[in-house]
Amino acid sequence: MIEIRAAEITDLPSVAQLVALSFHPGSGWQALWRSFIQLGIEQDLRDRWQRERPHYHCWLAVLRTGGSALCVGSVEVQLRELRGQPSPYLSNLAVHPDYRRRGIGRRLLETVETHLCSTYSNLYLHVLAQNQAAQQLYARCGFEVVEEGFTFWGERKLLLRKSLASDRPYSPSPISSSV
Ligand SMILES: CC(C)(COP(=O)(O)OP(=O)(O)OC[C@H]1O[C@@H](n2cnc3c(N)ncnc32)[C@H](O)[C@@H]1OP(=O)(O)O)[C@@H](O)C(=O)NCCC(=O)NCCS
Repeated sequence: MIEIRAAEITDLPSVAQLVALSFHPGSGWQALWRSFIQLGIEQDLRDRWQRERPHYHCWLAVLRTGGSALCVGSVEVQLRELRGQPSPYLSNLAVHPDYRRRGIGRRLLETVETHLCSTYSNLYLHVLAQNQAAQQLYARCGFEVVEEGFTFWGERKLLLRKSLASDRPYSPSPISSSV
């Protein structure tokens, strides 16, 4: 059974491990490199946790089997100055590679939206233009492209926004990504 719950500070090593695996998959030297990246991610998580709460939240998807619990999904939200006003900004949505296409990413997004919709009217995030899987998910969940830009490394990135007020439902039909 998969439970969605707010993270606690003791969860941060598991979140760092999941984020590192999700964004930097691979074996051999890539796995070695990942263990270094994971340390940096954990430090960043701790910094955000300590500096930005109460305007920072992290949610987890936890798989419970028998007596054990495995973190299989996570997402973070913090406040950022976006398009002229402080708005919630979603980052590091990650689902363990072995547990994808089971609706966990969508459930994490829905949890974030439920938490924010009584206080904020928009939710923002960035996605790389080449990340088709994430773009499909966000399009089906009602996000729209509002800006295009480039990362520090020159990759094309898209700023997406979802209006939390409009209550646009999850779309069951596939939306082709034209961006
Ligand atoms: C993107 C990611 C979070 C999706 O998580 P997930 O739990 O597999 O997503 P869901 O099962 O909730 O998918 C919901 C819908 O999104 C779309 N979708 C998700 N993954 C997809 C893929 N690989 N290809 C095409 N569509 C996809 C589908 O429409 C899917 O519905 P369906 O399974 O009924 O067709 C996951 O692939 C991941 O962690 N990727 C690596 C990290 C990353 O890129 N994060 C986003 C950064 S912006």
